[in-house]
Amino acid sequence: MNYKELAVAALEARKLSYSPYSNFQVGAALLTKSGKIYKGCNIESAAFSPTNCAERTALFKAISEGEREFAAIAVAGGAADGEAQYCYPCGVCRQMLGEFFTADCEIIVVKTEDDFLVHSFAELLPFGFGAGNLI
Ligand code: THU
Repeated sequence: MNYKELAVAALEARKLSYSPYSNFQVGAALLTKSGKIYKGCNIESAAFSPTNCAERTALFKAISEGEREFAAIAVAGGAADGEAQYCYPCGVCRQMLGEFFTADCEIIVVKTEDDFLVHSFAELLPFGFGAGNLI
């Protein structure tokens, strides 16, 4: 896995963030098992609740293009007037990623292209509720 390439893609995606209300810019880069990268940014609404996080933007783009199998997602978030900080996916995004991510999928939390933390999805959402519960 080329973590640096995915980190760079998340930092690029962050530049397109539409976040005039929070001024918190987030970018995500989602890697499919076949090696394709889907980028996404957070998109805010004046009504606040329709806001979509960067991770879900990237995931929805990929799913709507027919992708179903993923290897990793990189996330870069931080205040508009500064560099990215270590920004972990919110609970809603963890739940949505869990719809498609397996326990060994990786979450790369990006500060810079050379400074990032790597976690397994299992670390981020232990004891999650999923499709298996509905059987
Ligand atoms: N945000 C994301 O895009 N991803 C996260 O995981 C955390 C939060 C966005 C939502 C909102 O536009 C802004 O960051 C502040 O919450």
